[in-house]
Amino acid sequence: CGIVGYAGARPALGIVLDGLRRLEYRGYDSAGVAIVCEDELLTEKKAGKLANLEKVLAERTTTELDGCGARGIGDGTTGIGHTRWATHGGPTDRNAHPHLSPDNGVAVIHNGIIENFAKLRAELENEGVTFASDTDTECAAHLLAAALADLRAAGEPDGPALLAAAMRAVCQRLEGAFTLLAVDARVPGAVVGARRNSPLVVGRGDGENYLASDVAAFIEHTREAVELGQDQIVLITADAIEITDFDGQPASGKDFHIDWDASAAEKGGYDWFMLKEIEEQPQAIADTLLGRLTDSGEIMLDEVRLSDQDLRDVDKIFIVACGTAYHSGLVAKYAIEHWTRIPCEVELASEFRYRDPVLDRSTLIVVISQSGETMDTLMALRHAKEQKARVLAICNTNGSTIPRESDAVLYTHGGPEIAVASTKAFLTQVVACYLIGLHLAQVRGIKFADEVAAVVDQLHQMPGKLRELLNRIEPVRELARDLKAEPTVLFIGRHVGYPVALEGALKLKELAYMHAEGFAAGELKHGPIALIDQGTPVICVVPSPVGRGMLHDKVVSNIQEVRARGARTIVIAEEGDEAVVPYADHLIYVPRTPTLLAPLVTTVPLQVLAAEIAAARGHDVDQPRNLAKSVTVE
Ligand code: G6P
Repeated sequence: CGIVGYAGARPALGIVLDGLRRLEYRGYDSAGVAIVCEDELLTEKKAGKLANLEKVLAERTTTELDGCGARGIGDGTTGIGHTRWATHGGPTDRNAHPHLSPDNGVAVIHNGIIENFAKLRAELENEGVTFASDTDTECAAHLLAAALADLRAAGEPDGPALLAAAMRAVCQRLEGAFTLLAVDARVPGAVVGARRNSPLVVGRGDGENYLASDVAAFIEHTREAVELGQDQIVLITADAIEITDFDGQPASGKDFHIDWDASAAEKGGYDWFMLKEIEEQPQAIADTLLGRLTDSGEIMLDEVRLSDQDLRDVDKIFIVACGTAYHSGLVAKYAIEHWTRIPCEVELASEFRYRDPVLDRSTLIVVISQSGETMDTLMALRHAKEQKARVLAICNTNGSTIPRESDAVLYTHGGPEIAVASTKAFLTQVVACYLIGLHLAQVRGIKFADEVAAVVDQLHQMPGKLRELLNRIEPVRELARDLKAEPTVLFIGRHVGYPVALEGALKLKELAYMHAEGFAAGELKHGPIALIDQGTPVICVVPSPVGRGMLHDKVVSNIQEVRARGARTIVIAEEGDEAVVPYADHLIYVPRTPTLLAPLVTTVPLQVLAAEIAAARGHDVDQPRNLAKSVTVE
C-alpha cells in the first residue's frame, strides 16, 4: 500500500492526492483521504483506482457541501491518504482506508498486516465496539480512539504530544508489520506515524512536513528526507518532526538528500511509464556503472561494512530475491560462479528461510530488491543475519530497509521505477550482479585489474548497444499485434538465456494475463514439449555462436524440435547468426554481445512484446490487475 501524510499551511488535499498518484504503483485496489479542517475530520474513500476517489472529491469540492465553517475538504491543511493493495477484506468502499473511530474523531491508515487482529477485534467487540469493515486496520483506529480517551480522562492536555503518546500505546498492543498514520480532529495540525517492518520516510519542508511510504510522494516539494528506524513513532507538524521509540524515548532519524530527478517520476509524453522506463534502460545501466572502477582498476560498491578478508572467507553464495529480481539473480549465478569459482545458489525469498538453509559466517547472501522493502526478501535477510551470514544488498532505493540492514550495499542508481512490471530495475540489477561478481573475483585474487577492466569496458558498451536495439524495435510491436489473441506463449533458452525465458514469460503473465511459461530449452523434451500444438508460439532465446558454439548449436536443435511439432518460432538471436534463419518464423536480431552479458539485450524485446500485447488487449500496462510493485507483506 502507499501512504502519505502532510502537515503545513497549504491545503492538504491536493498535496495528498498528488502524493498518492505517485505511490499508486504500490497498490490500487482502493484509495482514501482524511483531512483535518479546523476541528473537523473530513474523509472520503472509494474502491478502485485513485481516479474513482478523485472523481468523488471533485464533485464534493465544487459543491462545497462540507462542514468546516464555510469551508470544505479542500481547505484543511493537515491530511493523510492511502492507496491500497488488499490483504484483509476485499477491495470495497467499506474496506478502503482511512478507518475511523465511531465518533469520527480519529482516522487511521495502514500498510502491512496486524497479525493479532482477530484477538484484538474479539476483545473490542466484547467491549461493545461495532466494526464497520473487515480489515485488520480498523482495530488500530478503535484502539487509538480508546487510548486518546484514556489519556484525556487522565488529564493529559490535548495537543500533538497526546496523539504521539496514544499511538505509542496502540503500538504496544500490535503484532506484525505495520506503518500507521493517524490524525485526530481535536489535534489539528499534527500527523502521527508509527513504523515496524514497513516503509515510512519523512520529508522535511519549509513550514511543512511530509510522511510517505517512499520519497516519490513528496519529491516535488522537498529533497530533504529523514530515514526512520524500526519501531519508531514520528510526529509531524508544520514546524517540527519529533521521533521517539515505542517507549517514548527520544530517537533520531538519519537525514538524507534525494538526488532523483523529479521529472523521472513523470510520464514525459509516453502512454505508459513502462514504455518510458524501457527507453531509459541505456541511461539506467550507464548510471549503475558510473564511477565503479577506481583509477587502480578496482570495483567499488557503495557502503561496505565487510572487509576484503570477509569476502575472501566466503565459501558459498546464496542470491535471494522475489519476482523479476529473482530472475536477475538467476542470471547472476552464471557470471558469479564463472568468475569467482564460489558455489552460488539462487533462491526465492519466500522459500528461503522456511527450509532452514545451512548458513554460517562464511556464507554470503546477496539480496536483490528494487524497492528495498519487499517483506519476503527482508525476512530472508534477517534470517540469514541471525545465522551469522554476511549480507550484501543490491537495491535501487536509498534509505530503504533492506540496504540499511545489510552489511554492504550496491545501489543500482536506476532512478524511480513506477510501472509495476520491472524493466530498468531488472537490467540494472543484472549489471550490479556482474559488478559484485567481478569485485569478489578481484578481492580473492582470481581476476586481475586488467581483466576486470576488460569486462567493465564491455559493460560500458552496453548502453550504446541498447540504444541501437531500441531504435529498431518496431517489428516487435507489429509482432505483438499478431500474438495478442494467442492462448499460450512458451519461452525457451539455455544458460543465461534460460532466466531470460523465465523473465519473458513472467512479463507476459503479469501484463497480458496470458498463459506463458519459460523452460530450459534442453528440458523441453522431458515433458513440456507435449504442450506444443499446431501454431503454438515459442519464443527462443539463442546464445551467441561466438565462443560457445556448442551451446548455440544445442539451442538451434531445440528450435528444430519444437518446429517439427508445429510450433511457430520467434527467434531472438545475435546479429549475423545465419544458422537460425531456416528455423525462424519471426527473427529478431539483437546486437552482438558476449554470452554472459547477453541478457542485457535479449530481455529487451521481451519487455516490449509484453507491454505491447497488454496494450493491444486493452489492459492497463502500468498497473496490472491484482499486483503491486512493492509487496510489504509476507
Ligand atoms: C513485486 C512486483 C515485482 C517485483 C517483486 C520484487 O511482486 O510486482 O515486479 O519484481 O515485487 O520487488 P523488489 O522491490 O524486491 O525488487
